[in-house]
Amino acid sequence: MLTILVINSKGGSGKTTLTTNLASYYASRKLKTALMDYDPQGSSMQWLRARPDRMEKIHGANAAPPKGATIQRSSQVWIPADTEVMIIDAPAGVKGLLLQELVRRTNFIVIPVAPSPIDIRSTADFVKELFLFGGARASKAKIAVVANRVRSSSSSVYASLERFLNSLKLPFLTNIRDSEVYLDAAEKGLGVFEMDEAATAPERSELLPILQWVDGHYMATDKRARVTPATENSTAPNSYGSRIEDKVMNLEAFRATGRFNKQS
Ligand SMILES: Nc1ncnc2c1ncn2[C@@H]1O[C@H](COP(=O)(O)OP(=O)(O)OP(=O)(O)O)[C@@H](O)[C@H]1O
Ligand SMILES: [Mg+2]
Repeated sequence: MLTILVINSKGGSGKTTLTTNLASYYASRKLKTALMDYDPQGSSMQWLRARPDRMEKIHGANAAPPKGATIQRSSQVWIPADTEVMIIDAPAGVKGLLLQELVRRTNFIVIPVAPSPIDIRSTADFVKELFLFGGARASKAKIAVVANRVRSSSSSVYASLERFLNSLKLPFLTNIRDSEVYLDAAEKGLGVFEMDEAATAPERSELLPILQWVDGHYMATDKRARVTPATENSTAPNSYGSRIEDKVMNLEAFRATGRFNKQS
């Protein structure tokens, strides 16, 4: 099963927006798709409830921990046995055991980040947490970052984060613009790939690099999952450099140079 975890401990970075658009894309490709919502706010589940009956079905699984609990065991969250694609919406502030649980059950991790210095700094901290305590190093999951809510003026804000990600050999896949189309889609229970093609062309093309990245790494037995031919079949544990801890710890040194805070 193809499993994509959309995660960032920073709130409001675009996790639910990306989750719902990815889920609806795969469903529209006629793959049996499940959406697992780990967020007690239940935004993905709300989106699913707004979804029109005529659209391809997506199975919704509420995986939010019950009040007072810190973790929901995966065995308690039922998804149909024939599920081909599962997209997981993580809650804000995720860490510790829940973070490890999420990383363990995932093939791909996508981290959306909003274009503010605060968001960018906390995302770098989150990436560090992911490797040092989340089990990302031992995991086979592929990890990438996407910029979200980008305006024409904001692309340079990401330069420092891009340098940090480069040092970890993590790809920065795409810039997702700040667009009313995403708000419209969220309200209607749709994804941009299910809406009028001409009206959503920019949004489709900016999400495409994520789908191609997944394609390139995921050797699906079912070719319907693909949007492009496979380019790689990697089953090795993460190889983001043999001394990943050193590199992650270098974040502090990197900041000390002042380059991390520079917004040009
Ligand atoms: N690219 C975008 N263009 C326009 N609006 C966006 C975009 N991405 C997200 N939004 C809006 O920003 C708000 C926060 O996005 P979203 O709910 O996806 O973030 P989140 O990371 O899931 O938040 P939380 O941490 O609270 O779960 C929502 O109102 C959403 O509709
Ligand atoms: Mg959310």
